[in-house]
Amino acid sequence: MIFTVAIDGPAAAGKGTISRAVAAAFGLPHLDTGLLYRAVGALVAEGAEPAAAARALTPANLARDDLRSAAAGQAASRVAAIPEVRAALLEFQRRFARAEGGAVLDGRDIGTVICPEAEVKLYVTASPEVRARRRWLELGGDAAPLPFDRVLAEVRERDARDMGRADAPLRPAADAVILDTTELTAEEAVARAVALVAERRGC
Ligand code: C5P
Repeated sequence: MIFTVAIDGPAAAGKGTISRAVAAAFGLPHLDTGLLYRAVGALVAEGAEPAAAARALTPANLARDDLRSAAAGQAASRVAAIPEVRAALLEFQRRFARAEGGAVLDGRDIGTVICPEAEVKLYVTASPEVRARRRWLELGGDAAPLPFDRVLAEVRERDARDMGRADAPLRPAADAVILDTTELTAEEAVARAVALVAERRGC
């Protein structure tokens, strides 16, 4: 059975938590596509040429432990605006999405570009302030290396770059279900996503 769950949305909206929970609930493999762009961004910061780095990505590149930082997120969003980088990562994501047995992918363009035929499309969002607050708390709150205002500015900057780029801009697919997590706990957001997928799977 082919059954793709496409989960898109801006940074820190809750996509990762929701995607992992949906994948676990239905026994589906999960691909965090942001990690692909983060790995390319890290290689480019070390001097690699962007498209060549994207074409030659290895599992070891994806396993680096420095890909979760705010700087890695910004670097990812810069290389993600380069069409040759996106093209180099397309086939791998498409094969993962349509593999027998089903899959969950989260990113920015899964429902619009990678897998427009996905059986479930979810667009997870929240206000910039709430997303920045979650990121800031993850970074340690008062002990975080960045003040809240800086984190908020970076969230807004990344939104503007991801939504404003010409190639595969971040936007909800016309047939996506919008899940606004501004007022939801993580548990509530996960429960809504799991219920939607269960309904579409007919189980
Ligand atoms: O989701 P994450 O924050 O890890 O993504 C890092 C960056 O990678 C995003 O800001 C975005 O620019 C880019 N990205 C993308 N398309 C995807 C996934 C991530 O352009 N499918």
